[in-house]
Amino acid sequence: MNQPRERWSSKTGFILAAAGSAVGLGNIWKFPHMAGQHGGAAFTLVYLVCIVVVGMPILLAEFSMGRSTQRNPVGAFAKLAGNNNWKWVGLLGVASAFVILSFYSVIGGWAIKYSWMALSGQFAANAATPDGPQLAYDAFISKPVEPILWHLAFMGMCVLVIVRGIKSGIEKTSKTLMPVLLVILLILVVRGLTLEGAGEGLRFLFEPKWGDLDVQGVALALGHSFFTISLGMGTMITYGSYLDNKSDLLRAGIWVVVLDTGIALLAGIAIFTAVFALGQDPAGGPGLIFVVLPSLFPLMPGGTFFAFLFFSLLLVAALTSAISILEVVITYFIDEKGWGRVRATYTFGGIIAVVGIFISLSFGNFNIIAPLTDLSFFDFMDGLSSKYMLPVGGLFTALFVLVKWGVPNFIEHMNVGSSGFPVPAKAVMAAFIVSALVVVYIIFESVIDLFG
Ligand code: PHE
Repeated sequence: MNQPRERWSSKTGFILAAAGSAVGLGNIWKFPHMAGQHGGAAFTLVYLVCIVVVGMPILLAEFSMGRSTQRNPVGAFAKLAGNNNWKWVGLLGVASAFVILSFYSVIGGWAIKYSWMALSGQFAANAATPDGPQLAYDAFISKPVEPILWHLAFMGMCVLVIVRGIKSGIEKTSKTLMPVLLVILLILVVRGLTLEGAGEGLRFLFEPKWGDLDVQGVALALGHSFFTISLGMGTMITYGSYLDNKSDLLRAGIWVVVLDTGIALLAGIAIFTAVFALGQDPAGGPGLIFVVLPSLFPLMPGGTFFAFLFFSLLLVAALTSAISILEVVITYFIDEKGWGRVRATYTFGGIIAVVGIFISLSFGNFNIIAPLTDLSFFDFMDGLSSKYMLPVGGLFTALFVLVKWGVPNFIEHMNVGSSGFPVPAKAVMAAFIVSALVVVYIIFESVIDLFG
């Protein structure tokens, strides 16, 4: 028990770990396909507004709750509330971690497979026939065994990082991989921008055509702002709980948001310049990067190399996020249940891996939830977490600051360790109210959507 809590070894280490959590499949896989299907630039703009208005206040609330209590999300809510009434918000977060990681890891596994396919020249072979890339994708994801093995490999990587703890596990991995991610992304952006016809792609991403934006797109952008900054399930409470009082939380928050948004936009540039230059449809949906891109790489000079870089980028991004999801569960069991890190990591890594097996099978012909709904288990878990669980968690985090912890207490704590940028309490209160109202709207839209 009474071992001192582990700590990040540096401010940069913490920022890179938190940014590593934020930058993930959400930036490289989800954002581009959502923008592609919901009006490009119009979607981008709504997304940017949501990140600043809704995301930033909740991010800072989570950092502050973690640091001031030095606890996992469940313990943090209980300690600050002084009773057990709010604890379930933290528990909802731990539950969200199970839901998200089980499908996240399946896609992480695909990234390993696709890196390998890129390297071994299979994209060129598949692209020889017009439907080749689609058929190859459909055949791969619906196989009963192979994608499960890649998913298990990906979960194995997460477990290997998490057993080593905060400093030598999460921090070291993020410090090594985040710079790699940026370099790869910049190379891909330059490749995209130097393709003939790249301007079309830029216009699609940055020149809004408002007519293209639908209500569903707005709700999607709002929900995605939680997913992409890893909010609403206590990831940032957990990471904040390993901080000491010397870090400037506002500064760290700004870094995380800037890196997350910058990287999503750069990924969008890399992808849409190629998609438009090579005359493809941007509205490819979730298959955009697994079907459209594999058909494009063989057409560009150096395609094999760039394809390999792209899928390695996806893998790196997914891994630094997946570890942050697993850490929420592990920190909870260490803090609240007195478990050892190694035991907790193997146990819950194992349980999540098993759920993931059923998610993977739902792309083929075994859908475990078929008796309950027509959705596949994958779509169900994805929708459940990003449309309901994270927004509800985020809403209650904002309400918690407003009605229980109190904005003045929050500000006082947030300013510990900062060089003293004075944040007016009224403005902060307004930010949380707006944030909460917006989230109520997202949840409302999702519920309407469910019954409509
Ligand atoms: N932010 C990650 C991404 O964009 C996903 C994530 C969600 C990570 C919730 C942690 C918690 O891919």
